[in-house]
Amino acid sequence: MPSENELNESTGAFERVAGEEQSFPTPPWAEQTRTPSMPEYRRRWEKSIADPESFWGELARELVWDRPYDTVLEWNRPFAKWFVGGKLNASVQCLDKHLDSSATDKTAITWIGEPGDRRTLTYRDLYMSVNKLASALKQLGVGRGDRVAVYMPMLPELPIACLACARIGAIHTVVFAGFSSQSLRDRIDDCGAVAVITADGGWRRGSQMRIKDIVDDAVKGASSIKHVVVVKRGGVEFPHSMTHGRDVYYDDLLSSADDFAAPEPMDSEDPLFILYTSGTTGKPKGIFHTHAGYLLGTMVSAREVFDMRDNDVFWCTADVGWITGHSYIIYGPMQNGVSQVMYEGAPNHPTPGRFWEIVEKEKVTVFYTAPTAIRAFMGWGDKWVTPRDLTSLRLLGTVGEPINPEAWRWYHKTIGAGRCPIVDTWWQTETGSISITPLPGATPTKPGSATLPFYGIDAAILDEQGNEVTEGGGLLAIRKPWPAMMRGIWGDENRYRETYWSKWDGKYYFAGDGAYRDKDGYFWIVGRVDDVVNVSGHRIGTAELESAFVEHPAVNEAAVIGVPHKIKGECLIGFVSLCDGQRHSAELAEELRDLIAEKIGKFCRPERVMFVEDLPKTRSGKIMRRLLRDIATGKALGDVTTLADSSALEKLAREYRDE
Ligand code: WTA
Repeated sequence: MPSENELNESTGAFERVAGEEQSFPTPPWAEQTRTPSMPEYRRRWEKSIADPESFWGELARELVWDRPYDTVLEWNRPFAKWFVGGKLNASVQCLDKHLDSSATDKTAITWIGEPGDRRTLTYRDLYMSVNKLASALKQLGVGRGDRVAVYMPMLPELPIACLACARIGAIHTVVFAGFSSQSLRDRIDDCGAVAVITADGGWRRGSQMRIKDIVDDAVKGASSIKHVVVVKRGGVEFPHSMTHGRDVYYDDLLSSADDFAAPEPMDSEDPLFILYTSGTTGKPKGIFHTHAGYLLGTMVSAREVFDMRDNDVFWCTADVGWITGHSYIIYGPMQNGVSQVMYEGAPNHPTPGRFWEIVEKEKVTVFYTAPTAIRAFMGWGDKWVTPRDLTSLRLLGTVGEPINPEAWRWYHKTIGAGRCPIVDTWWQTETGSISITPLPGATPTKPGSATLPFYGIDAAILDEQGNEVTEGGGLLAIRKPWPAMMRGIWGDENRYRETYWSKWDGKYYFAGDGAYRDKDGYFWIVGRVDDVVNVSGHRIGTAELESAFVEHPAVNEAAVIGVPHKIKGECLIGFVSLCDGQRHSAELAEELRDLIAEKIGKFCRPERVMFVEDLPKTRSGKIMRRLLRDIATGKALGDVTTLADSSALEKLAREYRDE
């Protein structure tokens, strides 16, 4: 839990207070794995750092190239180009590649709908649907370089849509279907998407989500959108309307489309997708990834970290709307030709045993989820787990936020029966693929530590001044480029350099996380050091929320902070000052929480809104979030000497406690 680590206010570094030193050794199935031992891991890792060209060049032979590349890496700090001159297509790596192999008639996706409906799609089925949709999109006039937004619940058509875009060289931008219409519109506007692929509706915790209505609202003001393609979720009627000339049903489109769409030979460095993520400013950043490097990074990491085998049933519980779903539902697993489970709904619907019922029934072998889910399962109790036969499981993974040792141990013992290694994988939308992680069968694990860097990742810990810390706390950084790294922020070259490469004069990639390195060189990720909050594994920029708050006519100023939460990891607290003449009330607080849910998404709804006369500020006018955090966590107030008006603060702390 974040609370086990302390921020040292004077150095700005995180320090580990309670260390969990128990080490879980390599499990007995080690001899099967691709990296069978620690010496082997070290040998390969050192090679990947000393000579990335030959390390990745060798692995890149496994990709299907239309034209071979000329150079493995061009590194023009901070801009990297991988496999320069090569041509290939992502959909070929995920689908065509398997056509003549044993994977053709193998299940690619076992899809389970929340109400219990089930579909299975083989790799051949996926190939056929992707080709048809790709042809149909081409007929609509969508082509190479066009941006296509995908706003869909977890249906098989979601990966199909992404791969169809990739096939014709269009750039997909998936927007998580929990985002509001305004958030969707902002993203469409930012990248100038020409089409949206969506669904009429979906299920979440027993209620129907009217997805198409949200899209209608979003595209009302989005001038770039020419087409809206609508998948019918099926099962029941999801009420929606269609706009003549703009909207078309997916089924109608496919029924008249050609069976085959020739894959566009894409340049290694052509963008494959844009995925918006939160940062320190109010505007989300459109992180973009390119074909070759991203494909190689996700293929190799999926295979190594999850030890993917022919007979595996892999289940990553993330939504495709986040990077985890892009890399470890679509591109990583599909390049490896494994069978997967894809689930539409919530983990506790209709009962808190739903996930374990699915694991038992589908004989899931490798399971990848977020610590927040694990903490929730712990809270619901073992009684939902123990009746289930989970013996099919052989490997467990976590991602998205630090895992507290208690949750790690519960996962290890109750879900994994002490047999399954746990891979705690640290990475980001920006890194594209898993970057710090144990390798099952090789790395002894310690609960709460993401352990050691993956191949090609030259990770380090630095202090604010840029001195490297070999043992101790500081900021997480990466020295060298790696294949799946982001290539930039859509439409804003400078922001990429400034955000990620300017902290230490362009010498290191700055991840935005605080971390600690122990005597064995293990990395312990502590959490974000910027104004990004991790709520239930969802990355949320507080500045985005603050802008939404001040759009309310009664609000003068707002500051949003994250504080530790037992299940969610962190939760959001909004401190709000009102305009002159406005009165605060419980109703207004509720209205403001609703406003955020409506403007950005329900998953961003603040836990609490607290009214303040004035926000604590430094003399230069900077809001002191640190003090707000101290108040919200009940800590003694730290140094207040730089504060413009310190008397108001004690009062605020009292009011916060009493409210
Ligand atoms: C956090 C998700 C601790 C971290 C793949 C990072 C983690 C942010 C871990 C990226 C982990 C992710 N341990 N923290 N294993 N994995 N994080 O872009 O703060 O949604 O910077 O990518 O999640 O979130 P994003």
